[in-house]
Amino acid sequence: MASVVVVGTQWGDEGKGKIVDLLTRYADFVVRFQGGNNAGHTLVVDGKQYIFHIIPSGILYKDKTCVIGNGVIIDPGVLLKEMANLAEKGMAVTPRQLLISANAHLIMPYHQCLDVARENALAKGKKIGTTGRGIGPCYMDKVGRVGMKVGDLLDMSLFTDKLQAAVEDKNFILTRQFGAQPLDYAAILDQFEAHAAQLSPFIGNVSVALDQARKAGKNILFEGAQGTQLDIDHGTYPFVTSSNTIAGNACIGSGFGPVHIDEVIGILKAYTTRVGEGPFPTELPEGDGIGDILQQKGHEYGATTGRRRRCGWFDAVVANDAVRLNGLTGFAVTKLDVLSGLKKLKIATGYRVEGVPYGYMPDNIRKARMAEPVYEEMDGWGTELPGIRSYEDLPAQAKDYLKRLEDLTGVAPAIVSVGPDREETLLLRNPFSG
Ligand code: GDP
Ligand code: IMO
Ligand code: MG
Repeated sequence: MASVVVVGTQWGDEGKGKIVDLLTRYADFVVRFQGGNNAGHTLVVDGKQYIFHIIPSGILYKDKTCVIGNGVIIDPGVLLKEMANLAEKGMAVTPRQLLISANAHLIMPYHQCLDVARENALAKGKKIGTTGRGIGPCYMDKVGRVGMKVGDLLDMSLFTDKLQAAVEDKNFILTRQFGAQPLDYAAILDQFEAHAAQLSPFIGNVSVALDQARKAGKNILFEGAQGTQLDIDHGTYPFVTSSNTIAGNACIGSGFGPVHIDEVIGILKAYTTRVGEGPFPTELPEGDGIGDILQQKGHEYGATTGRRRRCGWFDAVVANDAVRLNGLTGFAVTKLDVLSGLKKLKIATGYRVEGVPYGYMPDNIRKARMAEPVYEEMDGWGTELPGIRSYEDLPAQAKDYLKRLEDLTGVAPAIVSVGPDREETLLLRNPFSG
C-alpha cells in the first residue's frame, strides 16, 4: 500500500498526464487536488491521443476510481463535455469511477468573463497570459468566502440565494469597471440546474473516501497540475497560477494527512518550456535555431490554449527549487527523445543577478527577470530514442546527461520517458513498490 504524489517541477506541461496514466496501472485511486481546466494533460495509448483538462488522467482504466478533490475548481460545462466525449468513445464514466468533492468550488460564467476582462485591461508587460478559464477570479471568490461550491448544487435553494447575490456583485464590476456586458442571472440558473441534475450522483466526501481507501490498503496516486514555478506562493509571482501547485497541497486539496504520503515524484522535462508571460532565464527566444528545434520536435503547443510554448535549456536551479519545495523522492524525466540530434547540450547550473550568484529563483520578480544562467555544456547523442525500452540501451551520452541531472539535484530518475506513448517509457523504479 502506498500514496504517491506526482507534481510538475517547472512551468507546467512536463508530461504529468502521461506519467499519471502510466502509474495508474499500479494505483486504485487517482486524485486531482488543485487547479482547474487551465490544465491540459495529454495521454497517448496505442497511438490514440486523449487530452484531459479536469478529469484525472487515470480515467482510461475502468477499474480505478478517479477523484476530484476540494482544492480543484470545476467548470461543470467542461467536465460534462469531457464525460460526454468519453461516452462517445464507449467509455461512459460511472459514479463508481468518478467522485467529486462537495467542497470543490465552481467556476462560474462570470469568473471567465472577469479573467478575460482583467487580462485585456492590463498593459503590455503586465499581462500574465492566463488561460482565460476563470481560474484567478474563482480562487479569489473562494478565499473571499463568496464562492459557489459543488455541494451547493445539491441544495438548489441555497444555490439560488448565493447565485443571485454573486451575479449582482459581478455584474456591477463587469459593467462599471470593465465596460463589459452584464450576465443574465436566469440563464445561468437554468444552465446550472441542468448541470446539477447530471452531476449529483458523482458528488460526495473525498476526505472520507480516501481515508477508507488508505485503511483498506489501497494505492493512491495524486495528480498535480501546472508546475512548481507556477505556485501562487513559491513561483515567479505574479506570473503564476492562483493555486498552490506543490506537493504539500495534495493533502490540503483532498483532505489527506501528510504523514501518509510515501513518495513525491517530480515530472522533469529534459529541457524547459513555459506558456504565458513571466521570467524564464534559460529561454531560447523565437528565432533561435535550437529553441525552434525544441519547439518543433517537442510539438510545444499548449494542450489547453494551443499557444506556442516558449522553449529553453534545462535549468538545474528550477529543478533544485522543485526538489526542495516538494520534497521529491524521484524524478520522471520526460521528452529525452526531443534532445536527440543536438550536438551540444547546455545545462544551467546557477544564475548571476547583477554579478551576484544565485542557486535558487530570486524572490524579487525584477531580479528573476534579470537572472543570467551560468551554463555548462555536454555532448549530445545522435540516436533517436523512442524505440528504446531499457536504460542499458540508451546512448552513453544520454546516460551521462541523466547522471548529470541526478548529480546536480541529488535526486535519481525513477522513470525516463522517450516518447508520448504509454509504452515509450523506462520504469527504473516503481514508486508504488518503494
Ligand atoms: P502535462 O500538462 O504535464 O500533462 O503535459 P502536456 O500534456 O500539456 O504536454 C506534454 C506533451 O508532451 C504532450 O503532448 C505529451 O503527449 C508529450 N509527451 C509526454 N512525454 C513525452 C516524451 O517522453 N517524449 C515526447 N516526444 N513527447 C512526450
Ligand atoms: P498543466 O497542468 C502550463 C499558466 C498560464 C499563465 C499562468 C496563469 O497542463 O501543466 P491561469 O489560467 O492559471 O490563471 O494562468 O499559468 N498555466 C499553465 N502553463 N501548463 C499548465 O497546466 C498551466 N496552467 C496555467 O499559461 O501563464
Ligand atoms: Mg499541460
